[in-house]
Amino acid sequence: MQEKLSIHGAWSSRWVFIMAATGSAVGLGNIWKFPYITGENGGGAFVLVYLICILLVGIPIMVSEVLIGRRGRQSPINSMKDLAVESGLSRKWSLAGWMGAIAGVMIFSFYSIVAGWVLYYVAGMANGEFIDIGSEMAGKKFEALLADAQTLLIWHTVFVLMVMIVVAGGVNKGLERATRIMMPALFVLLFVLLGYSMTSGAFGQGFDFLFHFDPSELTWNSVLVALGHSFFTLSLGMGSIMAYGSYMPKKSSIGGTVVMIALLDTLVALVAGLAIFPIVFANQLDPGAGPGLMFITLPVAFGQMPGGQIFGFLFFVLIAVAAWTSAISLMEPAVAWMVEKFGIKRLPACTALGFLVWALGIACLGSFNFMSDLKIGSMTFFDLMDFATANVMLPLGGLFIAIFAGWKIKQSVLKDELSMQNHFWFSAWYVAIRFIAPVAVAAIFALNLYNKFTV
Ligand code: TRP
Repeated sequence: MQEKLSIHGAWSSRWVFIMAATGSAVGLGNIWKFPYITGENGGGAFVLVYLICILLVGIPIMVSEVLIGRRGRQSPINSMKDLAVESGLSRKWSLAGWMGAIAGVMIFSFYSIVAGWVLYYVAGMANGEFIDIGSEMAGKKFEALLADAQTLLIWHTVFVLMVMIVVAGGVNKGLERATRIMMPALFVLLFVLLGYSMTSGAFGQGFDFLFHFDPSELTWNSVLVALGHSFFTLSLGMGSIMAYGSYMPKKSSIGGTVVMIALLDTLVALVAGLAIFPIVFANQLDPGAGPGLMFITLPVAFGQMPGGQIFGFLFFVLIAVAAWTSAISLMEPAVAWMVEKFGIKRLPACTALGFLVWALGIACLGSFNFMSDLKIGSMTFFDLMDFATANVMLPLGGLFIAIFAGWKIKQSVLKDELSMQNHFWFSAWYVAIRFIAPVAVAAIFALNLYNKFTV
């Protein structure tokens, strides 16, 4: 039988799929967001919940996304629809794909603002603006950047254009090549930074903060944040991994591949945390400082380190690349759908979508200056985009995917796609996707709602 392929292309090997999916997973979520939300949620207990979520919810759902994508060989919206029809279900399952495409646009809009900060720091490092900078000065510099809407707009625009160009060029060219070199380089530099933080004098304190388990610090809200972040960091719940799965060669095993991607992603987050928190404590900074955490701590570290200007420059370049390869996957599902639906080329699809993201991004960047007074239930617009996607839409999308894969798709289809020789791993996945993942997501949602109305 001729193998069914996607009209958008195919990865040239399993290894390329791993690189691309890891490129999607490893991004600002690992290096920027994970440390700062860990700081805000008290450290160790939060990290433990996050790790449990990755294992019991994230990995099983990632397997399902790759499976659905590879079986459907189309954009998530159409793959969900076709698989539903194949199993004799309602076409309405494609609505989960729709919610994902919308979430992608929303995430991209605030992601691009933070990526813009990174680009600004790339330029600043190159100019030597951060040489010998102290923590107070670093904080002031960051605040000044946030207040400057025009500068934010410039870098936001640059980032959206960077992403549009690659997505318009298609999956194989550009993206594959970029990740192949940049991802390993990011790893190396993270370890350089880790080496520095080990000598900063507060390594033990940083380590303790990340891995010290005190359940009394845990609230239901931080459990929700940990769950939401496990989706965010693995690019789950909106179709990024599903779209990438639709370009995956049929021969390769899904299970092992997914575990490898999740391990790499988790490793990067933990190393980033281990690099950042010792610097926080050595400089008497506040671990709960919020979104600015990375942008205040890293310049201080690079300012003091020998060769810091070069290392700092390289490091921010690599974070920019990590953000870039992630944002591409935020756009891919909607672009693939537009190409399928309207029969247009990728460039016009990217242009239309890029414009939408760009416009929404302006409201996000305004949250730090001209729109800072606008509060929606105590959140700025930027916070709202983050909260609504990471803590609501992604877990909800994941819940639909888990129910779809675990309860709706025919078992023969699952076994055919997963072709797991080992009965044990299939059963383990099947239990997780039918029971553990949906119950965990539903329970955490329900408890948070309950708390909101009773407190
Ligand atoms: N995972 C990426 C990060 O950690 C961000 C990302 C890319 C994403 N695609 C996604 C998040 C899809 C949620 C859903 O930076």
